[in-house]
Parts: sequence; C-alpha cells; structure tokens
Amino acid sequence: MAVQINPSILSADFARLAEEARAVEGADWLHVDVMDNHFVPNLTLGVPVVESLSRATDTPLDLHLMIEDPDRWAPQYVEAGAGSVTFHAEAAAAPVRLAREIRALGARAAMALKPGTPIEQYEDILPELDMVLIMTVEPGFGGQSFLDIMLPKVRRTRELIAKHGLDLWLQVDGGVSATTIERVAEAGADVFVAGSAVYGAMDPAAAVRTLRDQAGA
Ligand code: DX5
Ligand code: ZN
Repeated sequence: MAVQINPSILSADFARLAEEARAVEGADWLHVDVMDNHFVPNLTLGVPVVESLSRATDTPLDLHLMIEDPDRWAPQYVEAGAGSVTFHAEAAAAPVRLAREIRALGARAAMALKPGTPIEQYEDILPELDMVLIMTVEPGFGGQSFLDIMLPKVRRTRELIAKHGLDLWLQVDGGVSATTIERVAEAGADVFVAGSAVYGAMDPAAAVRTLRDQAGA
C-alpha cells in the first residue's frame, strides 16, 4: 500500500496559488477544496481557478467538492483539468451515475463521507469508485483537531475494501499531522490530505517528506 501525501491549498495563500503549488513539489496530488457556502458554511473557489491552477502546476489536482448538486458540477471540474474528483455522498442525487460519468470523462472518481455518515450504507457503491474519503473533521475549515473517534470507521472501510477485493484508495482529510498520521495509517488509510500541517510549516516540501516518513513508520 503506497503512501500518498496530498497538501490542501485551503491553507495556502490564495493570492499566490501557482507559487504555493510549486512549494510542495514531491507531493503526490494537490488537494483543492471547493466550497459553495451551502453544503458547508464557507466559500473558496470554482471552475475558472481550477482551470488556471491546472495549467500552473504539473502536480495532478485532487478536487474535493463540498458543494450541493455535485451531479451537475463535477463533470465541469474534470474538464477544467482535475485528475480526481471527489463528491460528497450526502449531496449526490445519483452517486453511481455520477461516478461513472467522472470516470468516462477520464478522471478518477471518489466519494466522501462526513463524520456522521456511516460507510455501511454505501458498501454497494464501492466497486464504482477509485477512492473513498473518510472525513476526520467536519468539512468546512482547515486547522481543526483530528477526530480520533473516526479511526474505527477508517478500519471498517479498509475491511470492506478487502472483503470485495477492490483496488480502492482510502483517503483521510482533516487534522492530519505528524502526530496523528501514524495512527490513521495504521487504521488502513493510504492517501493523506494535510493543509495546515504542510502550509503552516516553515518548509512545506520538508513537511510533506516528514508526513510521508511518519505514515510509513
Ligand atoms: C476541510 C477540508 C480540508 C482542509 C484540511 O473541510 O476538506 O481539506 O484543508 O485542513 P487541515 O489539514 O488543516 O485539517
Ligand atoms: Zn478537503
């Protein structure tokens, strides 16, 4: 299980996104949080910024759509240059159809679950996905504390992936840091989003290397 570290630009300087993307060269993906002020109480960026960012960096973009009506918007993010598009289970009207559409357009399809949403009710959808995202904070803001209470859900998700013999990445997002990454890796996560732990560090690229070492420890 190869470890992947995806810095979240939510904690970067939005006026210098191209430079901030280059500051984490060596990262596997750049995690881009799209918020619409409806699904979550915060607002970030949309399709035009993703289009520009995809031209400004060679690091592939991992889009996390915290928006209502992802069925309508997700395809536009693939066309804007995203390599992976994650929609929320709580927001999608037709998750299977949406995952198939994202894949057909040439991107990886992923589904995210808020902390209060159980994985069990989505077991049948897993074969349609390339990645599942278990949120380890309530979505909406960077810099929150990691919810240890989510560790059994991460473990359970890894068990379901194994039970179905799937080649599915298991991403975690929220409060991932050098102190929390080891236990969430041990629970079965292999793709780690980190915002404040990377962009809040003096040397973001070094922070990515530290997280990678800690996850593999
Ligand atoms: C939160 C976002 C996260 C956020 C994580 O809703 O989805 O990607 O940037 O930030 P940290 O790593 O600071 O918790
Ligand atoms: Zn995110």
